[in-house]
Parts: sequence; structure tokens; C-alpha cells
Amino acid sequence: MEVIVKKDYEQMSRLAAQMIADVVRENPRCVLGLATGSTPLGTYKELIRMHKKEGLDFSQAASFNLDEYVGVKPTHKQSYWYFMYHNLFRHINIPLENVHVPDGTAADVEAHCAWYDDEIERWGGIDIQILGIGGNGHIAFNEPGTAVFSRTNWVALDKRTIEDNARFFKRKSDVPRFAITMGIGTILEARRVVLLANKASKAEAIAATVEGPITAIVPASALQLHPNCTIITDRAAAGKLKRKYGSTPRKLPKVRKKK
Ligand code: GLP
Repeated sequence: MEVIVKKDYEQMSRLAAQMIADVVRENPRCVLGLATGSTPLGTYKELIRMHKKEGLDFSQAASFNLDEYVGVKPTHKQSYWYFMYHNLFRHINIPLENVHVPDGTAADVEAHCAWYDDEIERWGGIDIQILGIGGNGHIAFNEPGTAVFSRTNWVALDKRTIEDNARFFKRKSDVPRFAITMGIGTILEARRVVLLANKASKAEAIAATVEGPITAIVPASALQLHPNCTIITDRAAAGKLKRKYGSTPRKLPKVRKKK
């Protein structure tokens, strides 16, 4: 697990966007794993800028989103489909037929979840998965207690998640109680994982994820099992880490050839 602590949200977002752009440039037919929430918004803004100003080309790329509320239509303003369309997809040239967000209105939710995992495989697996983190350490909607090797499934949301998300809905009672989420096992299969966290409200979850034991109580701690996982935070979210971490991706020094 590599931890990179940036000065602020802008720098954190720029680095994450750079990492995604590198994957897109190296393999235009790449498969991106995308997240919702306020955290990746800066990253998406930077990707949009790169697309518009630098010609970053998504025309052959595909994407899979982590999660969606059960019972919420894509046209609902709080649906994750709506969020992704308005904050990213409509501003770049990714073909909409290549984008995937779990369908919260699927008639057979369990069959849809199994299909989603199969579909990720059919597209060749996820090249880079972006993640946020919940205040309780959840990733996607994998709440505390989720098995490390879980697959895409439907879940009941934690009390804290419902409270955290209440700000997006008119009333707390409007917050959906269930969601479809990629499993932790599904997430661990991505070739590369990048978790983003900013603000002091995430500091405890980040410390437990990075420096605590791997435990079902902190779902993000399962990322310690991933061979290519980068955690990027701002200084506030790094506030409870015990060790000091660098501010740039690690790089091997060049070996000087002896004459
Ligand atoms: C939701 C999403 C998660 C996200 C989390 C944090 O619960 N399902 O994928 O990481 O919120 O959201 P925010 O980035 O707004 O703090």
C-alpha cells in the first residue's frame, strides 16, 4: 500500500486525475472503475479539463461504477447514474454504451448483481479503480462487517451512512435503505486501486485503513491485501496517521552505470 499525502484537495485531485490519464493514454481501450461522492469531484473536473484542453481521449474507454441505491431510477437527481452523467460522462467523449452503473431498478436484483460481476470480466477486468471512503471505513457501499471476498451484491446501509447521506435528500426518511454495491472481492480484482480521502472527518477511517489490522469492521483495510493500491489524502485526512508519508509517488532512483 502506498500512501501519498498532498497539501490540499486540489493537489490530491490533480494527482488522481494524472494517474487515470496515464492509464487512458497507455491503453485507450482501458476499463475505468469509478466512484461517486463529493471526494472524486475534483478528479473528474480535472479529467474534463484534460479532455477539453489536452485532448485526453475516452472514445474507446469503458467504465464500471461501484454502486447505486436500490429503488432509485437513473433520472432521480440523487441516483449515482445521474451524478456520473452530470459530473463526468456528458463532459467527456466516453461512449455511453460503454458505461456501466448498477441498475437500482432491476427486477431481479440478485441476478443483476451476478451479471454485473460477469460483465466486468467480459470487458477484461478493471484497470484502475477509484474509491472514496465512508466515515465508518466503508468502500463503495461495503459496510462494516462485509466479508473480504464478497462479490457484487445488495446491502442494507449502515445507520451512519444513512445519516451522512441525508444531506443530499429532502428528508432523512427519503434516504434509501438498500444499495447495490461491487463487493470487496470484486474491487480487489482491479489491477490498480486508488483511494482518495480529504477532510478531517475521514482521518480516523484513513488511519484504521492504513495502519490498523485488516478487519471487517473497517472494510477499506482489506485494501492492504491489494498488490497495487495507492491511498491519496490531503493533510487533514492524514491527520491521525502515526507514520510520515511522502507527497509524491515513489520512484526508483536511476542507477548510474559504472564506466
Ligand atoms: C457513499 C458512496 C461511497 C463514497 C462515500 C463517501 O457512501 N457509496 O462510494 O466513498 O459515500 O462520500 P464522500 O466522498 O461524499 O465523502
